[in-house]
Amino acid sequence: MLRTTSRGKPIVYLDTAASAQKPQAVLDAMTRFYETSNANIHRGVYQASEQATLAYDGARETLASFLGGVAPEEIVFVRGTTEAINLVAQSFLRPTLRPDDWVLVTEMEHHANIVPWQLAGARTVPVPVTDGGELDLDAARRLLSEGPRLLAVVHASNTLGTINPIAELAAMARNAGVPVLVDGAQAVGHLAVDLTTLGADFYCFSGHKLFGPTGVGVLWGRRELLEAMPPWQGGGDMIDHVSFERTTFAPVPHKFEAGTPDIAGVIGLDAAVHWLGAQDRTAIAAHEETLWRAGRELLDAVGGVVRLAVPDRNVGILTFTVDGAHPHDVASLLDQDGICVRAGHHCTQPLHRRLGLPATVRASIAPYTALADLEALAAGLRRVRQVFA
Ligand code: ALA
Repeated sequence: MLRTTSRGKPIVYLDTAASAQKPQAVLDAMTRFYETSNANIHRGVYQASEQATLAYDGARETLASFLGGVAPEEIVFVRGTTEAINLVAQSFLRPTLRPDDWVLVTEMEHHANIVPWQLAGARTVPVPVTDGGELDLDAARRLLSEGPRLLAVVHASNTLGTINPIAELAAMARNAGVPVLVDGAQAVGHLAVDLTTLGADFYCFSGHKLFGPTGVGVLWGRRELLEAMPPWQGGGDMIDHVSFERTTFAPVPHKFEAGTPDIAGVIGLDAAVHWLGAQDRTAIAAHEETLWRAGRELLDAVGGVVRLAVPDRNVGILTFTVDGAHPHDVASLLDQDGICVRAGHHCTQPLHRRLGLPATVRASIAPYTALADLEALAAGLRRVRQVFA
């Protein structure tokens, strides 16, 4: 857990939407792996390698059960949300793409859920966002009937915090015969996700926003879809048989995990999910909601702070501008007080264009956030206002 700046000043960490702080249990699990069973997996018959293999394969079961009890074979370990979406774009969409194919995205997507589809050769068409920061569901229904190849939608917006009605969207998509990929990067740390009932076909997220390490994430896909998809990277551990004439591939999920994976990262992610499972998630959600509402009042009381219009169902994101001050200047001044927020377009340029803003400031709330952190933010913003007065 980051506690002080390099200059020894206490940290007020309000940037969990960019990356979460890690519980000690995650650091301990990774250190323990490196100290006691550091070896490659699926390759050695000696004890350390077998222990590493057991830990890695066990993590797949932990994640499958965390996601509502899906099959462990449907869990593919990847580098993060970005890699998961690129995998689906290259392996699910691209091999069968026709010249006029398009992917239905939304105006609130992160660039990671726009650019990979374009790189695969598809056009992206957005579901509009309303003035209240929600998806226009009537437009979504109409666009789904116009024949997109896929609906690619964020579960919770990293900029607005809006929690999208995924089950409803997935039902609409199913009626229209359109498969659905859900970017769960901002959702899994705040909401219980049950993939057995959600209705998605692919779901992905990053470990580091789920209190785990960076460099590891999960792609879940329905088994029949994963089985029909070709591998997207070749290398060790993803093959069945190799010859110079022809190669056959391992079954899912292994055919998507070429090369030595991030073993320590997967073990850290497993520990993060166990840590989260031991918390009272209902109490955490209530704590985050109380703080989010308090944060809104504190920001409104500063004067000159303009919050984005967002719905009440929110993952604890407070995004705003400060009259007369550029978001980067706001964030730099807050940093002088040890307050960590994100400033810029948050990798959602199309959404910022829709909002008519080049950039915003974002504070995000986590289980370890305290009211004092938001009071410090409000006090910091008062100082920013004085500087720009
Ligand atoms: N996607 C992450 C964010 O919203 C990095 O900050």
